[in-house]
Amino acid sequence: MLVLGIETSCDETAAAVVEDGHRLLANVVASQEEIHARYGGIVPEVASRQHLLSIATVVETALARAPARWEEIAAIAVTHGPGLAGSLLVGLNFAKAVALARGIPLVAVNHLEGHIYSAWLDAPAPRFPLLCLLVSGGHTGLFLMEDHGHYRQLGGTRDDAAGEAFDKVARLLGLGFPGGPAIQRVAAASAGDLRLPRAWLPGTDDFSFSGLKTAALHLVQKLEAGGAALPVPEVAAAFQEAVVDVLAAKAAEAARATGARELLLGGGVAANLLLRDAVATRSPVPVRVPPVSLCTDNGAMIAAAGFFRWRAGERAPWDLDVHPSLRLG
Ligand code: KG4
Ligand code: ZN
Repeated sequence: MLVLGIETSCDETAAAVVEDGHRLLANVVASQEEIHARYGGIVPEVASRQHLLSIATVVETALARAPARWEEIAAIAVTHGPGLAGSLLVGLNFAKAVALARGIPLVAVNHLEGHIYSAWLDAPAPRFPLLCLLVSGGHTGLFLMEDHGHYRQLGGTRDDAAGEAFDKVARLLGLGFPGGPAIQRVAAASAGDLRLPRAWLPGTDDFSFSGLKTAALHLVQKLEAGGAALPVPEVAAAFQEAVVDVLAAKAAEAARATGARELLLGGGVAANLLLRDAVATRSPVPVRVPPVSLCTDNGAMIAAAGFFRWRAGERAPWDLDVHPSLRLG
């Protein structure tokens, strides 16, 4: 059973072909990173135009690489939210047009659910109840997944998403966009002698990263006022450690409290090597984390999630609209 997944919620135009919800046949991602890097962040208008230019080629390339003919595609899964409205519209309308023209069922997928299902790809299926720590550029939260399609949100960020904090602190340090990979890279050279505060928000499964971001700004101002060169690797490392410490400790604690059988780490920030290590070390239960290449936005995770929705009998109506603030659970 082949599903074509289409994802255009942010700045990656992506399509993939996945068999039976877990076997990855082809995964094509056209990144707009270089274009947005010029502006220091994602420009929504530029993103949607770029999706328009790339979408047809990206989908055709995914089919060619699988290889698969249109007649073999049993369903088209597409992200309908959350994300940038203009970006979501390109993927959704493309998916609708092809599905209608070729008589293929359409399945709507929540982007966050997609990040969770990236852990199903080319790996043994995780076991329920599954505690999911989702950390991306737009979202940060803890979800308890009791079965396919059943989520309960335990907590979320009260201000910035973890990835957003990485991007903002990277900009403060002059490291460019996207910030997560840049911070990880320079932090590796740190001697590790600076420390930044953690917001624990005890008694809750919530997170907060804006205080840490402000603390990083004050630290940079203090160091610069001292006149010496800014120790960029030290500040980057102190920031990364503070984010990772809180995420890993709170996820481990929630896994204990909920009696989850496994812990799943997903979203763009799950590509962070320190976070992957910290979660694996502290979790009381086995940890599932997708390969780094599947942590950031891609169509394969949408196809995988779409397969399970298709199998449960779900079909999207032709008047399906985008939901920029769609929630999970
Ligand atoms: O999931 P994603 O591709 O897009 C959203 O759905 O938001 O996540 C992108 C975010 C960006 O904020 C980026 O800086 C962050 O993931 N990211 C990382 C790393 N790679 C990507 N953050 C920390 N360390 C990384 N290695
Ligand atoms: Zn994402």
